[in-house]
Amino acid sequence: MEVIICRDAAEMGQIAARHIVSVLRASARPVLGVATGSTPLSTYAALAELQAAGRADLSGISAFALDEYVGLPADDERSYAATIRHTVTEQLGLDPDHVHVPDGTATDLVAGCQAYEDAIAAAGGVDVQILGIGANGHIGFNEPTSSLSSRTRIKTLAPRTRADNQRFFAADETVPTHCLTQGLGTIMDARHLVLLASGTAKAEALAAAVEGPVSAMCPASVLQFHRHALVLADEDAASALKLSDYYRHVRDNQPQGMRIDTL
Ligand code: F6R
Repeated sequence: MEVIICRDAAEMGQIAARHIVSVLRASARPVLGVATGSTPLSTYAALAELQAAGRADLSGISAFALDEYVGLPADDERSYAATIRHTVTEQLGLDPDHVHVPDGTATDLVAGCQAYEDAIAAAGGVDVQILGIGANGHIGFNEPTSSLSSRTRIKTLAPRTRADNQRFFAADETVPTHCLTQGLGTIMDARHLVLLASGTAKAEALAAAVEGPVSAMCPASVLQFHRHALVLADEDAASALKLSDYYRHVRDNQPQGMRIDTL
């Protein structure tokens, strides 16, 4: 696992975007795994800037989202389908037919989850997956005690996750109780992972994920088993890391040609 402590969200987005572009460029059938939430927004903005500057062309890629609320249709602005449409598909000029989000309104949700797994496999698998981290250590909506080998399925959201996401809903609206989410096993199948963390609210979860034991109590800790996991954190999110001096030392002393932030 490589940990880079970034000055701020803008630098985090730029490093993530350059890494993502270099991974996608090397793929014959590029597939990007996308996340919703606040943290990846600077990465999507940086990807859009690279495109505008002619340094990346993402028009031909496919994308798969991590998760969706059960019961919210794609035309509901609070759905993750709508969020992905605005922050990813439109901003990066992707073909909407090649951007996939689990269908939280399917009549048969179990069959829909299997179809989602099949669609990822048919696309050749995810080349690089963007991840945020919940304050309770979740990735996707894999809440604590999720199986480390889980696949796409229905999950019950933790009360803390629903409270954290209330900001995307009006005060008198309730956050859905259930979601569809790629499993930890599904996420681990991606060939590269980029975990982004921003703000002090994520500090404890990030420290548990990177430096704690691998445990279903902190689902993000499963990344310790991934061969190509890059963790980008701002100073606040990195504030509980015990080895932050070491991560800075590694960043300052990367061998030429291996510098992630100069790709
Ligand atoms: C979103 C997702 C979640 C978020 C996490 C952090 O698709 O899967 O795991 O990444 O809840 O959310 P933010 O970035 O809003 O703090």
